[in-house]
Amino acid sequence: MPSELKSSQRRRLESGARAAAKKAYAPYSKFRVGAAVLGGSGKVYAGCNVENASYGLCQCAERAAITAAIAAGERTIRAVTVYTPTADPTAPCGACRQVIGEFGPTAVVVCVCQSRRRLETTLPELLPFRFSLRPI
Ligand code: THU
Repeated sequence: MPSELKSSQRRRLESGARAAAKKAYAPYSKFRVGAAVLGGSGKVYAGCNVENASYGLCQCAERAAITAAIAAGERTIRAVTVYTPTADPTAPCGACRQVIGEFGPTAVVVCVCQSRRRLETTLPELLPFRFSLRPI
């Protein structure tokens, strides 16, 4: 079962994702994305999208945040917040869903934007029957 997020955790995740979006390197798509993940330790790690002139090498914000968390020693992800400066929330792409699932099979996923609209869901809801080497 996904754990409920405390309001202080929500705030830290959202401010981390918002701040990261400001640092996005998105000269090609002009679509800035910031993400923050809550590791099992309780610490928050942020990431932004980093694009490349060779478009296929563009990296998503969610995976950048997860890479930072894992490099810091985390092995589980409890929640992910995605921020985009858009009118409607943006959900993680399919590849990011699979990567979130590796470390957060029951993670809470919160997508926030410039307006008050938000999407609050879970990884299993976003990616049912995900690929895993372990039986489900
Ligand atoms: N992007 C993300 O950062 N996360 C997603 O889940 C989907 C897309 C980025 C990649 C690219 O830099 C830009 O958004 C437009 O696709």
